[in-house]
Amino acid sequence: MDTKLLYQPLAQVEADAVAVVLFEEESTPADLKFAASWLDEIKTSGEFLGKSGELAVLHQPHGIKAKRLVAVGGGKKAAFDSASLRKVSGSTVRTLKQKGVKSLAWLLEGREAEAAVEGAILGNFEPEQHKTSTDNKSLAAFHVIAAADGAEIEKSFERGIILGDSQNFARELINEPANLLTPMVLADKARAMSSASGLECEILDQDRMMQLGMGSLLGVSQGSAEPPALIVIRYKPEAPSKSSDHLALVGKGVTFDTGGVSIKPADGMEKMKYDMAGGAAVLGAMRALAKLKPSIPVTAFVPAVENMVSSRAQRPGDIVKSLNGKTIEVLNTDAEGRLILIDAITYAKRLGCSHLIDAATLTGAIVVALGHVNIGAFTNNEDFLAKVMSAAKAEGEKMWHMPLDDEYKELLKSAFADLANIGGRYGGAISAAWFLREFVDDTPWVHLDIAGTAWLDEPKPHMAKGPSGVCVRTFVKLALGW
Ligand code: BES
Ligand code: ZN
Ligand code: ZN
Repeated sequence: MDTKLLYQPLAQVEADAVAVVLFEEESTPADLKFAASWLDEIKTSGEFLGKSGELAVLHQPHGIKAKRLVAVGGGKKAAFDSASLRKVSGSTVRTLKQKGVKSLAWLLEGREAEAAVEGAILGNFEPEQHKTSTDNKSLAAFHVIAAADGAEIEKSFERGIILGDSQNFARELINEPANLLTPMVLADKARAMSSASGLECEILDQDRMMQLGMGSLLGVSQGSAEPPALIVIRYKPEAPSKSSDHLALVGKGVTFDTGGVSIKPADGMEKMKYDMAGGAAVLGAMRALAKLKPSIPVTAFVPAVENMVSSRAQRPGDIVKSLNGKTIEVLNTDAEGRLILIDAITYAKRLGCSHLIDAATLTGAIVVALGHVNIGAFTNNEDFLAKVMSAAKAEGEKMWHMPLDDEYKELLKSAFADLANIGGRYGGAISAAWFLREFVDDTPWVHLDIAGTAWLDEPKPHMAKGPSGVCVRTFVKLALGW
């Protein structure tokens, strides 16, 4: 999709449609005087009151060159923030593209070009890379009509494009089926993205991981004919910063989760291709960071494996030794995410990372607890979590702080090893987080359980059904604001 900032008066803009956000109880803005009678009409008839979710289309408006004028409801003006703008631009794109609109110009109020273009790029995305024909139409051009020119608005617009494209990059990876996206293919894609972005990328293969002693990760992958990979990508700022902080982004990269010998039910198992959504979010964030250049070093770690059933697969009761030396009794082979993440976490600590943040489709229990609205956020360091939550809030990604009291740690006791990989029926998302914490120790750490938020079972007005790409924007915001 072509994206561009326009410095033209509204009347001169040529497009299939120009969209303008109007609020409840707002009088006609000065630059819409040409359409005042139409606006009065739709208001008094009750057809369009400026409420959020409303949309009205005027064809062949007199006084402007564009073919349609589209009024988009913004709700209460005081409550309208960048998250609302991202949503309305996304839903406007999704509605108009289905009506055959190819080029849309967005009349911007203020300087917030970022959210407008992000929403449009996200809304234009359809997870249809494998359809040879489709009823879905897409927008060819999204232009933002800026009130005034200036470096600030250019930067904001540029950032929106980078973030939108990077989130879609993650969504496309997540949507790839497991026959086409094996751990090695994911590693190849990570390498290609890195070299296109000027990032250093290193892939640790099975032999290297054996040498290092990543027994926990390798236990999960041993049942698959597809070899595992640990993807490591480094971003180093050009001007070294004064602080010694070094951020690690760790993402679960299970390209398919059958559950292993503790096999999952057949119903819905096809969705388990999205069990690498955390890894994809990390890769998407690195793609954006390479362009936006934060001042803190950021290293990505994506342990990529396939969790399969076979004669070589790990069995319940197996005991494995993790990279940090602790032994684990694998009571359930379906609790594999934590087993691969801990070896990546230990490795990140060895490379000198000072702050760890991981994203993982880790538990069904977090979906029971929080549904599909909030990410479950866990931490051993409240200050670090506060930073992550404020980045998430700014980006409109909802997060809920989950507890990690010491009492929950007891759930992971094993009779035969240092700890068990499951904690029983209740508080499953918490015992999973505690399992990770046992390997994090005192390093500031935030764990994001995205099992409920990484995939939309139903389309939203502003986003297609399927992979959401959640966490990409929060990660980027966090690193840029460091
Ligand atoms: N990948 C799943 C978690 C999951 C469930 C993600 C539903 C998305 C939707 C994870 O590997 C898993 O299977 N966890 C088990 C843990 C249990 C065995 C302790 C679960 O949540 O059932
Ligand atoms: Zn599993
Ligand atoms: Zn899993």
